[in-house]
Amino acid sequence: MARKKIVAGNWKMNTVPAEGVELAKAVVAGRSEVCECVNFIVCPPFTHLSQVVEAVKGSDIAVGAQDCATEAKGAYTGEIAASMIAALGCKYVILGHSERRQYYGETSETLNKKMAQAYANNLTPIYCVGENLEEREAGNHFAVCKAQIEEVVFNLTEEQFANLVIAYEPVWAIGTGKTATAEQAQEIHAYIREVLREKFGALAEECPILYGGSCKPSNAAEIFAKEDVDGGLIGGAALVATDFLAIGKGF
Ligand code: 13P
Repeated sequence: MARKKIVAGNWKMNTVPAEGVELAKAVVAGRSEVCECVNFIVCPPFTHLSQVVEAVKGSDIAVGAQDCATEAKGAYTGEIAASMIAALGCKYVILGHSERRQYYGETSETLNKKMAQAYANNLTPIYCVGENLEEREAGNHFAVCKAQIEEVVFNLTEEQFANLVIAYEPVWAIGTGKTATAEQAQEIHAYIREVLREKFGALAEECPILYGGSCKPSNAAEIFAKEDVDGGLIGGAALVATDFLAIGKGF
């Protein structure tokens, strides 16, 4: 069965609003060169989500945030609620990115709350999993990804799971220029799908699983050709519109 093909750009903490709007407009301008079958998502910083939503209006490009709060609203200085993100016209939210797990102490406990907030506000989570170099070298990458899925994704209802995107991002490949080989990506994506199947049965066949980690125009096609790879979550290359779009041509 055909799963959704997705190329999502995680801009991380890059671009000021004017730059972000320019980048979004350039993606819109070049979008027609890529198959309509590809679903593009851009995830700018919070500060210019609304301007980017405006910039992509009239196109089929969706906008997502990079995180959301664990709580619905209230005295949580500095936090951004899922309801605020949804109200801007965003459709997605990245949750559990390794940078948030690593630098901001994100745990499965906080992620369960964030997932609940995302769903309560009709946002589709892009839930990230992945091992670090030490875990990969010790052969623990399967166990690490399994735990990250069991502790969070297994708490979802079937209806919620049917509206989830997973991104596998090996930490050792993020921003390092070191990419997992297409075979490594396929091996773990197939494993992740098998874990999902245990809990959600046939619904697992429909869940898009994206690869992230130094994905670029030169390696996207080889990685996307693998059966269980349904697209990419792109960091650095998403900051250059032509590269981001060229990655979409990898399908
Ligand atoms: P890079 O593409 O810069 O390696 O980043 C990947 C990533 O972390 C996307 O979320």
